[in-house]
Amino acid sequence: MSDTRGNLEAAFAGESQANRKYLFFAEKADAEGHQQVARLFRAAAEAETVHARNHLKVLGGIKSTADNLKVAVGGEQHEFTEMYPGFIQQAKAEGKGDAERSFDLANRVEQIHHGLFRSALDSLEKGQGSEGKKFYVCQVCGYTVEGEAPDKCPVCGAARKMFKAVE
Ligand code: FE2
Ligand code: FE2
Ligand code: FE2
Repeated sequence: MSDTRGNLEAAFAGESQANRKYLFFAEKADAEGHQQVARLFRAAAEAETVHARNHLKVLGGIKSTADNLKVAVGGEQHEFTEMYPGFIQQAKAEGKGDAERSFDLANRVEQIHHGLFRSALDSLEKGQGSEGKKFYVCQVCGYTVEGEAPDKCPVCGAARKMFKAVE
């Protein structure tokens, strides 16, 4: 790997993290009544997204939708078969219950994402169109479902009102 390729990957990772962090900081600033600071965090987050997109484009990381679905299938699979199982074991061994729970919720949802991406790829390859259904995401654990929010989240048990619709 060339230095610049590695630097682009590091910069993409850093900009992506800064984007998420600033959006969470904006929520906190709003909750504390600092509206203008919240706006600044959201504006900077938007700019970090621009930087992240630019870096990923230069890396050639945005391909056809079929190829992108393959990347997503592989990424999710890595997370629930290798990354999170190891992280969960480690957290358990260290008695870090909050980390273990956070990893476990993500782990279970990545498995679901893997299935969703897999079937989207199958449909795409068969030339089947999408059915125009919304997705719903549990705001506690990230459980993701197509069509309708359940009364109770099957992963974390949260109530229906904790689901957010995604167009
Ligand atoms: Fe940036
Ligand atoms: Fe995922
Ligand atoms: Fe949930």
